Amino acid sequence: MAPTRAGLLPPLLLALVAAVIAGPGGASISIHPKEAFLPRGGSLKVNCSSSCNESLKLGLETQWPKVDLEIGHNWQLFELSNIEEDSDPLCYANCGEVQSSVSAKVLVYSFPDRVELEPLPAWQQVGKNLTLRCHVEGGAPRAQLSAALLRGEETLISKPLVGQPGDPQEITTTVLVSRGDHGASFSCRTELDLRPQGLALFSNASVARQLRTFELPVTIPKLDAPDLLEVGTRQKLVCSLEGLFPASEAQISLELGGRMLPHEMTIGRDFVSATALVEVTEETDATQQLLCVLELGGQSLEAQRNLSIYNFPAPVLTLSQLEVSEGSQVTVECEAHGGAQARLSGAPPGPPSARVQLTLNASAEDHNRSFLCSAALEVAGRLLFKNQTLELHVLYGPRLDESDCLGNWTWPEGSQQTLKCQAWGNPSPNLTCSRKADGALLPIGEVENVRREMTGTYVCRAVSSHGNVTRDVSLTVLYTDYHQNNLAIIIILLTLLATVGLGAWAFYLYNRQRKIRIYKLQKAQEEAMRLKAQAPPP
Ligand SMILES: *[C@@H]1O[C@H](CO)[C@@H](O)[C@H](O)[C@H]1NC(C)=O
Ligand SMILES: *[C@@H]1O[C@H](CO)[C@@H](O)[C@H](O)[C@H]1NC(C)=O
Ligand SMILES: *[C@@H]1O[C@H](CO)[C@@H](O)[C@H](O)[C@H]1NC(C)=O
Ligand SMILES: *[C@@H]1O[C@H](CO)[C@@H](O)[C@H](O)[C@H]1NC(C)=O
Ligand SMILES: *[C@@H]1O[C@H](CO)[C@@H](O)[C@H](O)[C@H]1NC(C)=O
Ligand SMILES: *[C@@H]1O[C@H](CO)[C@@H](O)[C@H](O)[C@H]1NC(C)=O
Repeated sequence: MAPTRAGLLPPLLLALVAAVIAGPGGASISIHPKEAFLPRGGSLKVNCSSSCNESLKLGLETQWPKVDLEIGHNWQLFELSNIEEDSDPLCYANCGEVQSSVSAKVLVYSFPDRVELEPLPAWQQVGKNLTLRCHVEGGAPRAQLSAALLRGEETLISKPLVGQPGDPQEITTTVLVSRGDHGASFSCRTELDLRPQGLALFSNASVARQLRTFELPVTIPKLDAPDLLEVGTRQKLVCSLEGLFPASEAQISLELGGRMLPHEMTIGRDFVSATALVEVTEETDATQQLLCVLELGGQSLEAQRNLSIYNFPAPVLTLSQLEVSEGSQVTVECEAHGGAQARLSGAPPGPPSARVQLTLNASAEDHNRSFLCSAALEVAGRLLFKNQTLELHVLYGPRLDESDCLGNWTWPEGSQQTLKCQAWGNPSPNLTCSRKADGALLPIGEVENVRREMTGTYVCRAVSSHGNVTRDVSLTVLYTDYHQNNLAIIIILLTLLATVGLGAWAFYLYNRQRKIRIYKLQKAQEEAMRLKAQAPPP
């Protein structure tokens, strides 16, 4: 707690050696105290005394209010009050006819009446110089008074104050402001050093002022929004800016067509963005201005863009019937609204119009046919599309064509085959193949092992709720018969045997014949010889 002026008073009364001035005739006058140091406005007791032995009249001359406190034999005690500044009270004495006087030195000290830091700008741009000014009024003795400008606890400049206590003083300094100075507290402090007088160091500080700094890029905020806004949709509009400081202090407002949009802010280190979701409703104006205003440090940046608002209802696609029987007539209609033009897949080309129609005789090929109805609308030079599709279902009777089910199959016995037979129709028909002769069923699809018993002519019948159809399929299984082969070999062998036997007998017969002929020839020769021998010689 700071001591009050009254409280400070006693220690400040520096009782010094009373000045004693020898008057004429040996009489001397003295004042006590000879020197005093006291707070401004304080009071002081002054004892004027004399060694005069004659009639004595004592007095004190001062500009301060004074009262006589006590009168002694040859002294008088006065009290001075409200001492405002340095002064020299004077004791005088009239001793007989002789007048003498002596003065004391009274020094006054005071704390500054005003220590004030000039208000800082509301916002200070980073990278610019800031001048700090401190005003000091009052304060004494000036020779022992100094003032300093501070950032937090850091002393930026410190200077002794000069002049008379009544002269207001100003100390200034300039700082180059950086981002780090945002939120820094600046103040001014005076120090009255009364230590030489046996007192302390007294400081008085101004009210601290906080600095707000900012930095804005030279670019304008970025607008992220579709150029075209469709009535009935919800659209996201974003306005953002990078490179600003302090991002948390930035204010963003988003306006569409003069109407404020509620938005959500996202704040990064040096980035800020505002996101608004807009329900696009039917508007009179087809074009609306999107305006983003970013404010920071008393400055504002603006970005704006024109958005086109359009109404584009989806086209209406109708089929007279979604499911029809084969051969029935179906009407397909595609109708666009809101000034859009309609196009229908499969429809003959014609002049652009809002309504296109197509009539067809439903055939099996039209089953699952998809119709595309496309509406085109030009908005702000861009062509927009909206499409609808519908599928037609056609009910058609079972089909079993040559290409779906071959009529003739020829398979080797024991092989693996696939019997391909597919019946068509909507609803899909049930297919069975049974042998004409005995009604045996033929498996459709994979056949494990072709057996010769499968041979035969089958009737394949496809049946659905839309009718039935049949188709003949004949299956031939190729195989080899071993019994017939053996018989053939036996016949061949028997034939060979018979041939060889016949040949041998013929040879035997021939040989016997020849031998007989030779024997007969001999007998004839022997007869001739005998006859010749019996005949007389001529
Ligand atoms: C004033 O001074 C005289 C002479 O020195 C002394 O005798 C007297 O007691 C003093 N009076 C007071 C109140 O101190
Ligand atoms: C200056 O400081 C002193 C002591 O520290 C105190 O008594 C005084 O009231 C202060 N003055 C102002 C103007 O704050
Ligand atoms: C549709 O069938 C009807 C008769 O059933 C016929 O007169 C008409 O020409 C057919 N239309 C088309 C586009 O084939
Ligand atoms: C709609 O149809 C048009 C053709 O008419 C096509 O160009 C466009 O890509 C389609 N759009 C969609 C979303 O399918
Ligand atoms: C199957 O083939 C035979 C002769 O190879 C022919 O006479 C008959 O017409 C064929 N049947 C079918 C349904 O093609
Ligand atoms: C096949 O169709 C005929 C008429 O075309 C009908 O008399 C017969 O009962 C049908 N057979 C089956 C199995 O549906």
